[in-house]
Amino acid sequence: KADDRMREVMTALIRHVHDFAREVNLTTDEYMAGVSLLNWAGQMSTDRRNEGQLVTDVIGLESLVDEITYKQAAASSSSVTPSAILGPFWRHDAPTRKNGESTVLKVPDDAKVSYMYGRLTDAVSGEPLANALVDVWQASTNGLYEQQDEDQPDCNLRGKFYTDDEGNYGFYCLRPTEYPIPSDGPAGKLLDLLDRHHYRPGHIHLIIMKDGYKSITTQIFDRETPYLDNDSVFAVKDGLTVDFTERKDDSKAMWELKYDIAMAPMG
Ligand code: DHB
Ligand code: FE
Repeated sequence: KADDRMREVMTALIRHVHDFAREVNLTTDEYMAGVSLLNWAGQMSTDRRNEGQLVTDVIGLESLVDEITYKQAAASSSSVTPSAILGPFWRHDAPTRKNGESTVLKVPDDAKVSYMYGRLTDAVSGEPLANALVDVWQASTNGLYEQQDEDQPDCNLRGKFYTDDEGNYGFYCLRPTEYPIPSDGPAGKLLDLLDRHHYRPGHIHLIIMKDGYKSITTQIFDRETPYLDNDSVFAVKDGLTVDFTERKDDSKAMWELKYDIAMAPMG
């Protein structure tokens, strides 16, 4: 029953939070500072920026929960594409685009335009998966997602793609670049207080969905990007590091990335 689970989770949470307060002899001032931080996160949040999530990310909580949740999916086959955290900048209302189209609505001067493509398969049978959703989003070269940046067109560097009959998808994107997570809110403040840097390695976000299969929320990381071994939100996993290569005979892109995806069947 949902109620039983709620009771189990809350009982343990309260026990651990009380133990934490006793362990550090938490003072009233420190408690109020924590409450202010929570309130600040709430005030900074909009439907396009999830600051509460950002705060939990810099303390590694979302990554830990991701690891716990997807251990089982990974167990069904060693070839299942690993998951990674959602992060605060996904949008539910990204437009559907056709395979072969571009998510790059405005090409920055320093952009490394790339063609990303690959095939979706059932991780157990190896069969291709047609008509599966590949929802992709990334930041521009200035380190900002389109909803953070007035100079980017709406839904720049985002799109929903559907695999064709052979399970293939493909689109133009940017070779991702490293950037700092927002420093104007409580997550940035926490990093400063802890003398930690704000950077994330260059990455592309993906959500892959198909009826009858476990959905995959993930991120892929350019093997040549800095901060791979000290991501400020702890999202990097071995199986998610990818190699961009030079693309030949395409005036629209200098780089390409072949990335195949394997999904775990339900049940
Ligand atoms: C976080 C994740 C991102 O993908 C990003 O671009 C910035 C922050 C996060 O997990 O907090
Ligand atoms: Fe991101």
